[in-house]
Amino acid sequence: MVSTQIRTTKVQQSKLDTVDFSNLPFGKIFSDHMFVSDYKDGQWTDDRIVPFGHFTMHPASMVLHYGQAVFEGMKASKHEDGTPMLLSPLEHAKRINASARRMMMAEFPEERFVEALSQLVNLDQAWIPPQEGSALYIRPFMFATDEFIGVRPSETYRFCIVTAPVGPYYAKPVRLVVEQKYVRAVPGGTGEAKAAGNYAGSLLPAHLAQQKGFDQVVWMGGPNMTQVQEVGTMNIFFVIDGEVVTPATDGAILKGITRKNFITILKDQGYKVSERVVEIDEIVEAYDAGKLEEMFGAGTAAVVSHVSELQYKDKLMTLPPVADRKVGPFLKQYIDGLRSGKVEDKFNWLVKV
Ligand SMILES: Cc1ncc(COP(=O)(O)O)c(C=O)c1O
Repeated sequence: MVSTQIRTTKVQQSKLDTVDFSNLPFGKIFSDHMFVSDYKDGQWTDDRIVPFGHFTMHPASMVLHYGQAVFEGMKASKHEDGTPMLLSPLEHAKRINASARRMMMAEFPEERFVEALSQLVNLDQAWIPPQEGSALYIRPFMFATDEFIGVRPSETYRFCIVTAPVGPYYAKPVRLVVEQKYVRAVPGGTGEAKAAGNYAGSLLPAHLAQQKGFDQVVWMGGPNMTQVQEVGTMNIFFVIDGEVVTPATDGAILKGITRKNFITILKDQGYKVSERVVEIDEIVEAYDAGKLEEMFGAGTAAVVSHVSELQYKDKLMTLPPVADRKVGPFLKQYIDGLRSGKVEDKFNWLVKV
């Protein structure tokens, strides 16, 4: 890795002692510094770490009109010996660039991404909450900054990384409803990119589901809306009669890094894992036959989000209590343990900051 010193301007007064680390709301508290780089004339320039603060924007900034904006979500944690660690940072660097390519945006060099991340987290390492399951959430993002009205790719961009200490996320098992009207993504669309607009489009269906008493929706696809895609902003896993099943990525599903890591861990543990088309009818059949043992969402923020209930049309399916489940709790413990150094990093996913 190239180790270049990024121009750094430190805060005069840290905000650290104003934060209650035992009570961290998700995504509301930001650490002292952020990384910023600007793209113009075909190059990323002026990489810098500066005090966290506002941007000013021109009203015609293209991102505000045509939505060229992509992002990542990742976490830094502390190893038992106090070393800050990142999990699979290069995967995130590659994914933001894959997202950028889909949205016709500039790519940020991957080694420079990891270097920026390392220097930022190193500087703000006192912001990493020490408790297992807590972390410093990292949000890299990029947006179009040309001051122009008219649809075309922007020629200038800003890339930024901010970080936020977070406590354990989504602790409660969730109630889901199978979405039958709205779609998140279709193959050939933008679902495989972490593009900001995808999340805007998901808000109305999620809101309608919440009004009916559910926490989130299960996104469906396929010609007849019968194929399971994802849950909310997570990939989805089922355990059916001892076999772990997850929808194959098909261009509509986000290629989750947690999903990929889970598949590797489970195969290594000797589980049968299938990535394939998952029809909702087979989930109902498995439930009726008493074989639907587990269902959970997989993503960086929550790691594992257990599903307690699933509504499909008129049928409410109640899953076994979390205490009776094996796979989801094992994966959550594995990833949390890996991040804190209790579980051996046999796949070399951790990168020291
Ligand atoms: C739509 C969607 N699916 C799945 C995921 C899970 O991906 P990862 O495991 O890389 O966090 C995310 C979060 O990034 C997401 O936004």
